[in-house]
This record gives sequence, C-alpha cells and structure tokens, in this order.
Amino acid sequence: MPTTKSTMKRLNHCHNIADLRAVARKRLPRAIFDYIDGGAEDEVSLRANMHDFNRWQLVPEILTDVEQINLATRVLGEAVSMPLVLSPTGMTRTFHPLGERAVAPAAADAGIIYSLSSMSSVSIEEIGALTNAPKWFQIYVWRDRGIVRDFIARARSAGFKALCLTVDVQIAGNRERDLYNGLTVPPKLNAKMLLDMMRYPGWCFNMLRHEPLQAANVVGKAAQVGEGVSTVLAYVSAQFDRSVTWADAEWMIQEWNGPFAIKGILSVQDALRAVEAGATGIIVSNHGGRQLDSVPSPIELLPEIVEAVGDRAEVIIDGGVRRGTDIIKALALGATACMAGRPYLYGLAAGGQAGVERALSLLQEELRRDMILLGVSDIAQLNRSHLRALHGATG
Ligand code: FNR
Ligand code: LAC
Repeated sequence: MPTTKSTMKRLNHCHNIADLRAVARKRLPRAIFDYIDGGAEDEVSLRANMHDFNRWQLVPEILTDVEQINLATRVLGEAVSMPLVLSPTGMTRTFHPLGERAVAPAAADAGIIYSLSSMSSVSIEEIGALTNAPKWFQIYVWRDRGIVRDFIARARSAGFKALCLTVDVQIAGNRERDLYNGLTVPPKLNAKMLLDMMRYPGWCFNMLRHEPLQAANVVGKAAQVGEGVSTVLAYVSAQFDRSVTWADAEWMIQEWNGPFAIKGILSVQDALRAVEAGATGIIVSNHGGRQLDSVPSPIELLPEIVEAVGDRAEVIIDGGVRRGTDIIKALALGATACMAGRPYLYGLAAGGQAGVERALSLLQEELRRDMILLGVSDIAQLNRSHLRALHGATG
C-alpha cells in the first residue's frame, strides 16, 4: 500500500506523539482506539507511567561541544541507532490492515529492535523473513507447554535474537473502557459496535478487503480466538497458565540459551530473582497500565532496581515514554534503553508504515535536539548529575 499524499500531509502536521494519538483517535472506531489507549480500572498506573517522568527535572551542562551527537548503543548485545525498543503488541492488524508488516520494516529502517508479540496477527516466520534487523520474540506461557516449546524453536529458526517473557498476564486485566464499548478483538459486530464502525467506513473497508484477523502463531494450535471465546483477553485468560513459577522461567532461559529478558518486573526482589534465574534483561513494566492497576510506574522504580541489579543484567523500562526527554531521564537513571508500545501504534493507526516512521523519527529528532540542549554529546555519558528530583521524587 503506497503512502498517499493526503496521508503524508496528515503525518507532517503531527509534531509529537500526542498529535499522532489525536489523529489515531479520529480515524479509528472508538472501541478500537480505546483498546489501544486505555488501561485497567481507574487507570492510575496508566497515568502515572507518563506523569512520573515529570518528577525529574533535567540539568543541562553549558558550553560543552555538542557538534556531534551519538545516540547509538547496544541492547542485549545488538547494535541499535537509539535506545528505544518497540514493545510487543498483540493483534496489531486490528489497528491498520498491514499491522506487524508495517511496524517491523519501520523499526528496521530506523535501526531499532522490534519485539514481536506471540499473539501477533502475522506469523513469526513471515516477520522473521521480512527484515534482517535484530528482533525479539515475546512469549507467554501457554497451558500447553508443547506450544511454548514450539514457539522457542520457531523463534530460533526464524532468526529472532532474544526472547522476552511477559509475566504479568496471568489473567486479562480489567479494561473497563472495553466493557463499556462492548469490544471484542477481533471485532465482532453487535449493534453498538456496528453503529460505531459505520462512522469509520475507511477502517471497515480496509479490514474487509484484507485477510481476516487471527492470532497467526497459534492457528490450529489452541482454541482459536473468535471461536468459542469472544476476545483476545478471554482467550488469554483461558489459555495462559496461571501456575507458572520461577522454575518455568529458568527452564525457558536454559532452553533458549541466549539473550533473555523478563518483562513485567515491578520490585527489587523480583529483579534479583530474575538475575539469579539467568535473565540478561530486566524489563521494568506494568504492561502499560493495562493489567494490575495501582502498581508503580517503571520510571519510579528504576533507580532502586538499577541499584540492586548493578551490571549483572540490563535494565530496560517499558511504559509511558512519549518524549525524547523521557528517554534521557531513564538513561540518566541507569536504564540501557526504553521500550514503547502505544507511540508506534498511534502512528500506525494514523498512517500505516509512514505513521510508524513518523513516530520513530519524531522521537529520534527530539532525543537528538534534547541531547544538544542538555550539553551531552553521547548517551553513554548520561548520569544522575543531569537530573534533579522534583519535590517528592525518589532516588
Ligand atoms: C500491549 N502490550 C503487550 N505486551 C506483551 O507482552 N504482549 C502483547 O501481546 C501485548 N499486547 C498489547 C497490545 C496493545 C494494544 C497495547 C497498547 C499493549 C503491552 C506493551 O508491550 C507495553 O508493555 C506497553 O504498551 C507499554 O506502555 P506504553 O509504551 O504503551 O505506554
Ligand atoms: C494486552 C494483552 C493482550 O495488553 O497483552 O492487550
């Protein structure tokens, strides 16, 4: 699908992630937008993820040479152009018919890592073959361990560089916006949804003329999403194993025998256990505020986790990143990199691959400009001296 002039014009009018979000909101049926945008229950953690970055202020260094700026680094052993990894998001084709097929090339072009969800709407094999760029595969623990074993083998042979085990979806979070909207993913039509969708003929037309949405990696392997279960979240609750323990994580780490991150760590104690279990990456995350509400934000927890983990594993934060300054703050507090989910999904909904590219280039431009203004030429030099805690901030 070539990018039309009107899409480019629309994207060029977006000057930050919030603008892309506003366009996504206009273009998507309400229920679909809310599925991306919303969080669990009172959305306290969702809001905190973003707002807690404001508890840190930046302290510029003046009269330094910032002619050359280096944003490049390594994340879990892979060279990247900037310290940003795209978080895994399930059923991405719900938001644009190309879905993962648009996101993976945009990440590759930007020189950054894309993590493919095990609940993706395009298969591991297809995305593995689509780009040569380093990619991670995100895995959940299915009740049927045969599926897990199979996933590990498939991710390896499709060339994925690291596994990322998501541990905070023992059951679906309570997303009340979805309940009010009567959302099912893939969308099933009830009267309310139909009325909502009819107001978005472009989205409906696109969905109807492409292959049906499905969880591409588990076709024929477990009860199908949409057959017998109404939503991805109901599927997750039915198929995911709630009896998973550290022993299972250790088993997966050994089985994979390569870079392995655990996503969904929210305490020093669990970060240390992850290191003991052999994880090489600690992803401090509350699933973008979509699972247990009222848990702390990743940026809030980062200092204590970095202090405890030291250099035994890379610490990455996931959730709430919307600006270059957010990334700078996380790195100054000791994170190796940040992950972001909604920012690229807003871009995708706003304009397909070009929209994802716009989201990534806006973040990269912000990061570069902010480094110049901060007076620091290399992201490796960011440290606590570049931060000042606003009243009440920890660390
Ligand atoms: C997600 N997330 C997610 N995480 C995961 O491990 N597997 C998945 O399949 C999904 N699916 C998913 C769908 C959608 C629509 C969203 C918005 C999020 C969580 C995601 O990886 C990440 O933790 C959050 O998106 C981070 O917060 P921000 O960057 O969106 O604020
Ligand atoms: C979500 C699940 C599917 O956040 O990970 O929507």
